[in-house]
Amino acid sequence: MYTVLLLAAVALSAVQHAFAASAPSGTFNILSMNVAGLPEILNGNGESGDKTTNTAIIGQDMAKFAYDVIHVQEDFNYHATLYANDNHTFRTATSGGVPFGSGLNTLSNFDWVDFTRIKWATCSDASENDCLTPKGFTFMRVRVDEGVYVDFYNLHADAGTEPGDETARAANLQQVADYIDVWSTGNAVLVFGDTNARYTRVGDGIRVFSTQNGLTDAWVQDAAHGVVPAIGAPALLCPDGVPANISCEVVDKVLYRGSKVITLANTGFFYDTSRFLSSDLATLSDHNPVRVEFAWTLASTLRQSDLQGGPHGTWFTDLPGVPSSPKASVLMLRGAARLDAVGISLTSGASFTHGGTGGTAVSLTLAAGEAVVSGTLCWGQHDGDTRNFYALFTTTAGRTLTAGTLTASCATMTAPAGFGIVGFFGQSGDEMDQLGFIYAKQ
Ligand SMILES: *[C@@H]1O[C@H](CO)[C@@H](O)[C@H](O)[C@H]1NC(C)=O
Ligand SMILES: *[C@@H]1O[C@H](CO)[C@@H](O)[C@H](O)[C@H]1NC(C)=O
Repeated sequence: MYTVLLLAAVALSAVQHAFAASAPSGTFNILSMNVAGLPEILNGNGESGDKTTNTAIIGQDMAKFAYDVIHVQEDFNYHATLYANDNHTFRTATSGGVPFGSGLNTLSNFDWVDFTRIKWATCSDASENDCLTPKGFTFMRVRVDEGVYVDFYNLHADAGTEPGDETARAANLQQVADYIDVWSTGNAVLVFGDTNARYTRVGDGIRVFSTQNGLTDAWVQDAAHGVVPAIGAPALLCPDGVPANISCEVVDKVLYRGSKVITLANTGFFYDTSRFLSSDLATLSDHNPVRVEFAWTLASTLRQSDLQGGPHGTWFTDLPGVPSSPKASVLMLRGAARLDAVGISLTSGASFTHGGTGGTAVSLTLAAGEAVVSGTLCWGQHDGDTRNFYALFTTTAGRTLTAGTLTASCATMTAPAGFGIVGFFGQSGDEMDQLGFIYAKQ
């Protein structure tokens, strides 16, 4: 008992992060913009003005309108100019110009975890040299507020309308859909970027996001009143210049879904072309920048903590399996040098375990009415990767359960008043790489 209390005191004194409980709801907006940053010599894009000047204005407008999260595509050879003129706090490092980079970057007011760049498995040079540079998609879990994670996907799919292009583009979109099924199961998702796809075109495969992933297209919702344009119908091309309204369809799509804990609502779809013009009112890119305003609301009976640890292992979440009115009955941990596994059984009979079989197993059986209300996690480096080394959980009765080895980097996360831990989410392999808690109202 003495040891446990001493460790707890050390862990608490080593806390590095302060947590402010999440608001129950909020808003943010996003912008998707193909910034036409291929070298001038390869692709003039038909825009007037030189690309360095145009890119500087794009960066200034991104700062001026303070978009919450921006996905850019074709951010190749004018990248330094874009970032020099923008001021977002969180921005991805470039993967390089042509022919090294994907042209995909994110500029954000929110931090994220688990940023990953994925190359397309298929590309086609049938037209437009899509294999010239390693295009693909990116993934990140954006932290909108404490425990409010939305998985953001940026993409730039194969261009052109030759049969080879159509095949490659459909394969690209399928690749993202399959990735979502693995890495975003149970999570809120936002896909926005240059899909190079139209609902009206045969074979583009854009419908995969609604049929396979349950995503809603913000343009279909607002401009087409929920009616997806028919395949083979005339293309709803936008005019050159500033579109008068959002009735025309662009290939820059915004698709989204919520989760059991986060409801996402589209509160407005816009072409922001008029915000991105040169001093002589010419467009700066051959794509209309797309903005969508979102409102998010947390479920009244469920919450999540922040994630701690490193971006390794495989994604899991107990959220889809948490029954209504869940109550924990047994908490289980495995640990030794590091934290090997976590598990929880509920009074409903549901049981969740994650991690490996190493370490020593310990468990705590909860009394009726007793809930697990806080958890301290400590992390460190193993083989060059960050993972969780230690966990200490505390119940409403003041009882504790610990496993693993303390480090100097710890955080204590506490359930909102009246809530208790009923599950976990994060990433694991044979140990607990990354871990967060699912709280339910007790
Ligand atoms: C970025 O600059 C704009 C003005 O262009 C300002 O309104 C905004 O607050 C700045 N944002 C940050 C994160 O500094
Ligand atoms: C949208 O603008 C086009 C002109 O580009 C016009 O023909 C059409 O009627 C407008 N649609 C709506 C719904 O206002």
